[in-house]
Amino acid sequence: MSNDYVRIFDTTLRDGEQSPGATMTSGEKLEVARALARLGVDVIETGFPAASPDDWRAVQMIARRVGDAPLPGRPASEPPIICGLARATKKDIERAWTAVEPAARPRIHTFIATSPIHREHKLRMDKAQVLERVTAMVGFARSLCEDIEFSAEDAGRTELDFLAEAVAAAIAAGATTINIPDTVGYTTPDEFGARIAYLRQHVTGIDDVILSVHCHNDLGLATANTLAGLKAGARQAEVTINGIGERAGNTALEEVVMALHTRRAMFGLRTGIDTTQLARMSKMVSTVTGMTVQPNKAVVGANAFAHEAGIHQDGMLKHTETYEIMRPETVGAAQTRLVLGKHSGRHAFAVRLRELGHAIDGEELDRTFDRFKTLADKKKHLTDADLEALVASELYQAIALYSLEGLQVACGSMGLPTATVSLRGPEGHNHIHAAVGTGPVDATFKAIDAIVKTDCQLLEYLVQGVTEGIDAIGEVSVRIRGEADESRVTAQGQAQPRVFHGHGADTDIIVASAKAYLGAMNRLLQAKLRSVEVAAGPELKIGA
Ligand code: KIV
Ligand code: ZN
Repeated sequence: MSNDYVRIFDTTLRDGEQSPGATMTSGEKLEVARALARLGVDVIETGFPAASPDDWRAVQMIARRVGDAPLPGRPASEPPIICGLARATKKDIERAWTAVEPAARPRIHTFIATSPIHREHKLRMDKAQVLERVTAMVGFARSLCEDIEFSAEDAGRTELDFLAEAVAAAIAAGATTINIPDTVGYTTPDEFGARIAYLRQHVTGIDDVILSVHCHNDLGLATANTLAGLKAGARQAEVTINGIGERAGNTALEEVVMALHTRRAMFGLRTGIDTTQLARMSKMVSTVTGMTVQPNKAVVGANAFAHEAGIHQDGMLKHTETYEIMRPETVGAAQTRLVLGKHSGRHAFAVRLRELGHAIDGEELDRTFDRFKTLADKKKHLTDADLEALVASELYQAIALYSLEGLQVACGSMGLPTATVSLRGPEGHNHIHAAVGTGPVDATFKAIDAIVKTDCQLLEYLVQGVTEGIDAIGEVSVRIRGEADESRVTAQGQAQPRVFHGHGADTDIIVASAKAYLGAMNRLLQAKLRSVEVAAGPELKIGA
C-alpha cells in the first residue's frame, strides 16, 4: 500500500454502539456492516465479543457474511478486515478470535491502559506489570491470528517514555498495527501530533507496523487531533459514522474523509472511501441507532449545504465556490431523484433497492413491496429518500413482540383527543384499547402503554419530513428510559436504567409515532427477556 494511503478503521459497531441508547440488533449490525463495506471501509470493528453471547454472535455473523464482501475498486482478494475487540486477557482474546476467525481477513484488537491514572486506580498494576501483560497477551493473540492491533488505552495522558516502551513491547510481541487513543479527548492537535512524531522517532520497528489514531471528542477536537496524527505519520484513522460514541463521541468518519479529500493538496493523503455514499450512510446509522444528526453537523447535517443569507445566495448564484468548498453531490447529499410510482412493479422496486445497497428478497421483499404499494397510492412519486425511509421502517425494527394492527384518532380543537389502538401481542392475539390524552400522540402512547403494561419514561420525541411537500413521509424517532437494570450497576452499587430508541415512517405522522414508540418498547421488552435468560441459566453456548 503506498505511503499516501490512509486506512479507514470504522468502529461505529463497537465504540459507536457504546453511546447511551444506541444499541443495535444483530440484523441492524449486519446491515450497517454491509453498508460500511460498500462505502469502502478498510477495517470494520464489529464489536466486543467477550461482552455477551449476543455480541459474540453478531461479530461472528458479520465475519461470516461480510468477511468476503468486495470493497469498491479493490481486488476480490482484499475484502474488509473484520476486527473484534478484546481486553488484554486470554479469555477475551480467545472469544474475539473465535468470533472473527471465519472472515477472510480477521483481526484481533487487544488493549490495556497505560496512563498513570488508569494503572493506579483501575488496573492496580505498576509499569512493569503492564509491560509484562502487553508482551504476553499480544504474543498470545499473535499465536492465533496474523493481524494484531494493540491499543495503549489513554495514550493521550501516558508518560511519553513509558508509552514508547509499551508500544515497543507490543511490536516485539508481534503487533502489526499500533493504535494511539486519546481515550478521554484531552489532547490538543499540536500535542497529539507531537506524540505520534515522538513515537516514530523513538520506537524501534515502528516503521514496520501501521500507526493508528483513535480520538474522542470531549473538547470538540477529535477531527483536528486525528488529522494532526495523520500529518505526523499515522496511516490508520479510527472513526465512527456521524461521530457517535462514548460521551461526546469519536472522530466522525465523514469529516476526516472529506478533509483529506477537499484539502488533498495540503495533506497529500487519500482514502478508499466512496464519498458519494456518505450522506446515505449517515442517515442509515442515525436511523438504526436513534442518534439524530444535528442540522449544522459538518458534511452530513441537513443544513451543511443550505444557504440562507441573501449575500450568500447571491454569491452562490454567481459561482458556487463563493460559499461552497465541496459539492453536495460529492457526499451524496443531493438525492432528490424521482424514481418510482404506483405503476412500478416488484422487479423495478427490487432492482432500485439493490442499487441503493439493500439486497433483500423473499418474505422481506414481499412485505416491503406491499408497504411501497400502499405508500405509492398516497404519494405520487417516491424518491430514493422515501425508499430509504420505507426500508428503514420495515427492516430496522426490533423483533416485533407487539405490532401495530390498527390506529384511529380523533383530535382537533373540540373535545378530548382520543386514540384507539389495536396491537397484535406476542401470543398472537389482538388487544384493543382507547385512551384520551393532551394530544393525539399522547393519547396513542397512553393506549399503547395500557396494552403493553411496562414501565418506561418518554425522553425524546422527534418528527422530521423525509422529503418536501404536503404528501411527504414523516419520520419519527423516540427514546424511552426503562426501569433500573440489575445487570448494569454503577461503582456505587446502584442499578442503572437503560435507554432504548425506536423509529417509524409513514405519510401519517401519528401512525409513524405509534410505530416508533412500539419499536422502542419492543427493544425494551427484548432486553428484559434477555436479562431474565442470562439470570436464569448457564451462559448461552458459543456457536449455538
Ligand atoms: O478510546 C479508547 O481508548 C478505545 C480503545 C479500546 C481503543 O476505544
Ligand atoms: Zn474509544
